[in-house]
Amino acid sequence: MKANAFWVGFVACASLTVALFAQSGSSTRSGVYAADQAAQGETLYAQQCAMCHGASLAGSGQTPALAGPAFLHNWVGQTVGDLSSKLQATMPATNPGSLKPDQVSELVAFILKSNHYPAGKKLPSDQNSLNNIHFEAPGH
Ligand code: HEC
Repeated sequence: MKANAFWVGFVACASLTVALFAQSGSSTRSGVYAADQAAQGETLYAQQCAMCHGASLAGSGQTPALAGPAFLHNWVGQTVGDLSSKLQATMPATNPGSLKPDQVSELVAFILKSNHYPAGKKLPSDQNSLNNIHFEAPGH
């Protein structure tokens, strides 16, 4: 009897771990950027992005918001890789292609934070890993 209870508990634990592991790193809701990355991104954003996208990421005129419902509407269903490659290729609009991969990840971390996604482990900067992280609507 004791042995049976042990195995039932063990199997339940193992499948829970597998379920949690499968989720981690696959969704923006599961803590995919580090808090210090977002802080570095905030500094970069103030230097290179805020003059167009606004200090609070609200956008203005032709320049889209980078936080809030309109931004999420654009990106939920796409991947963080889609966002980072767009950023890398087109921003800052005055000097596209000038951001290093680490800087792109820092900016993406700051954008995720500003959209109320939770911090967690460090956001990688290689395209393959980023392509596996899916935008989900932020949780409540
Ligand atoms: C000179 C003004 C300007 C600067 C500086 C600038 N942007 Fe943009 N950005 C724009 C405009 C205009 C668009 C819309 C056109 C487009 O998507 O290419 C845009 C689009 C974007 C988008 C796509 C938004 C969406 O939902 O499709 C992102 C992300 C973005 N910018 C991030 C940044 C970041 C991060 C920086 C700083 C490194 C930055 N931008 C600097 C003007 C600017």
